[in-house]
Amino acid sequence: MIKGFIFDLDGVITDTAELHFQAWKKLSDDMGWQFDREVNERLRGVSRMDSINIIREHNNAEVSEEKLLELATLKNDIYVASLDQMTPDDYLPGAQELLTLLRQEGFLVALGSASKNSNKVLKQLGATKFFDVIGDGNSVSKSKPAPDIFLFGAEQLKLKPEQCIVYEDAEAGVDAAKAGGFYSVGIGPEERVGHADVRFETMKEATLFEVKSAFGELFDN
Ligand code: G6P
Ligand code: MG
Repeated sequence: MIKGFIFDLDGVITDTAELHFQAWKKLSDDMGWQFDREVNERLRGVSRMDSINIIREHNNAEVSEEKLLELATLKNDIYVASLDQMTPDDYLPGAQELLTLLRQEGFLVALGSASKNSNKVLKQLGATKFFDVIGDGNSVSKSKPAPDIFLFGAEQLKLKPEQCIVYEDAEAGVDAAKAGGFYSVGIGPEERVGHADVRFETMKEATLFEVKSAFGELFDN
């Protein structure tokens, strides 16, 4: 039986992809590196250091580990500053309603994000109250597609993976959920999250009603 939900943050609760894009773009422009929305798509769900390595490789650039860390910190400073503009109006449509309903129905809820800035994003949205457990980029060392962040969330909620549904918008995120033995809801196009147990184009369609219908006998009512 499903007792809990674990949510990815970026692309599920709110659309930070645009802010990440702007920050990586600024850094790339300063470095004289090529960076566009297509490359940005490959960073979805990927940790900060893995992201900068993808951009570096895309540009065939030779950069020392130390310099790479410095550049990632620069990008993060730009990104974190841009989060100041985020408000409770910035939930993806449907996300706030779903989180509210899960609270009312007594489900346990965890965050399972790769972002080390999760607490700040949740605070800006006023969403901290919806979560029993916050698993973020500081909670585990192996990032998605490893299942560690979701296993951390389930363990903290005192639930087994098969009692939880994971919401994910990233290919690596759905891979992680599956590797951990979780049920998964994919948010986005078929070519990205078609391997999830159930897929919706956007969060607006991924309501509790629809998810209960899709997973049928896994719910009490
Ligand atoms: C999420 C986003 C990624 C981002 C990662 C790390 O998974 O989808 O694009 O790179 O978090 O975020 P951070 O805030 O720690 O740099
Ligand atoms: Mg995501």
